Formats: sequence, structure tokens, C-alpha cells
Amino acid sequence: MTKKSKGKVSDRRYKTVRVKTARKRANSSTRWLERQLNDPYVMEAKRLGLRSRAAFKMQDIQNKYQIIKQGHKIVDLGCAPGGWMQVALEIMNNKGSVVGIDLLEVEPINGATILQGDFTDDDAPEKIKQVLNGKANGVLSDMASNTTGHKQTDHLRIIALVEMALYFALEILEKDGYFVAKVFSGGTENNILRILKKHFTKVFHYKPPSSRKDSPEMYVVAIKYKDNFDGNF
Ligand SMILES: C[S@@+](CC[C@H](N)C(=O)[O-])C[C@H]1O[C@@H](n2cnc3c(N)ncnc32)[C@H](O)[C@@H]1O
Repeated sequence: MTKKSKGKVSDRRYKTVRVKTARKRANSSTRWLERQLNDPYVMEAKRLGLRSRAAFKMQDIQNKYQIIKQGHKIVDLGCAPGGWMQVALEIMNNKGSVVGIDLLEVEPINGATILQGDFTDDDAPEKIKQVLNGKANGVLSDMASNTTGHKQTDHLRIIALVEMALYFALEILEKDGYFVAKVFSGGTENNILRILKKHFTKVFHYKPPSSRKDSPEMYVVAIKYKDNFDGNF
């Protein structure tokens, strides 16, 4: 975010754009389009050259917990299109590195190594470790699988992603490292919360101001890794 912004993004006034319904477009798509076009974070991301409105969520997390420091090595799981990586590199003043992975192709970013693939594939963690070539200071996960509409299935899928990201984090984090992951509604599932509390000194749940009010997403932020993982959760 090299161009500086004044005041809260949510307080800015932008001209409202209305989208006419089109015969070939479902009403839900029209509503989505209208929301995008009128979302101050989307407009501000565009103005600042950020690849996603999600970038502001990482900026909010950083403002609140000051986790990212210059020189850090960071892993970004579910990194496309790259907003979090842009923010992390900017905070580090480009003195640091990020390894990102996503199912989708991501345009290259200076200072980031980007892998395309499924993090849940057996060989994905190993590929990330090879690029890292050592331990990481932070593991960030904004991964979310496409929802099926079946509540229990979606819940289990999200838990599985967080659990895999956490297991990976416990293996590769430096002492005092941090773990940030997207979770939903009621926060982190009990068992995952127990594991987090065992391995990190502080665990918080945080809904960034830039996260849409009507979205059930929030983030778990675990800081000061105790480096006490023996392979058992
Ligand atoms: C909300 S987006 C991430 C936005 C990103 N933080 C940014 O700032 O641009 C979630 C991403 O997670 C990715 N994802 C979901 N499941 C994944 C998996 N199993 N492996 C890798 N990426 C995954 C999706 O492809 C999607 O791009």
C-alpha cells in the first residue's frame, strides 16, 4: 500500500453504482456485482494497486497484533490473488520473504515464491519446506473451500483445512512464531482450540473491521509459538 490512505476506508463516501438486472444474469449475481461495485474496500484496493479486498483484513490483523516484522519468513496458504502477500511484503519493507500456495495460478510478486497446487495433497507440505529451506516465522491461512450448501459438510471441510494448516505450522514455525487462519461462525472448533492453546502462548479470535459484517468468517490469531511440538497434537 505505497499510496497512503487517510481515515477509515469504511467511512469514505463513494458514488453509489446501480446495476440493472439483465435477462441472462441471476438476481443473486446482480446483487453480488452491485455489492462489489459499491464496496469501499474494493474501490480502495483498486486505487492502491492491491490485488484483493482481503488485503485489508491482513492489514487489520497486523494493526491489531503487530505480528509481521522485517526479515520474517512467511508461508501464505490459499494466497491467490496475492493481497496478503503484497501487504506482508510491504510491512517487511521487502526485507523478508513469502512462500505462497494456491489451487489457482497467481501473477508473480517480487519477494514471493508462489506454488500452484492443492495444499492438502500429500506432497504439498514438503514442496513448501523445500522452498523455505529452514523454519518460518509465520504461517497464514486464508484458505476456504467452495461451499456445498450442506452445513455439516462445509463445517467439516473448513475444520480439515485449519487442522492441516495448523499441523504444518507446528512443524515449521520458529519459537515465538505465529499462526493466523480463517475460521467460521462460532470460532475455532474445540479440539483445534485446545491444540492451539497447548502450543501458543496467546490465542485470539478476531473479526477484522474490513471483513463483511454479513460474512460468518473470522480469524484465529495464535502468537508466541512455544516450539513444543513432538509430532502429537
Ligand atoms: C479468500 S481467498 C485468499 C485471498 C488472499 N488471502 C488474498 O489476500 O488475495 C482463498 C483462497 O484459498 C484457496 N484454496 C482453497 N483451498 C485450497 C487448498 N486446498 N489448497 C490451496 N489453496 C486453496 C482458493 O483457491 C482461494 O484462492
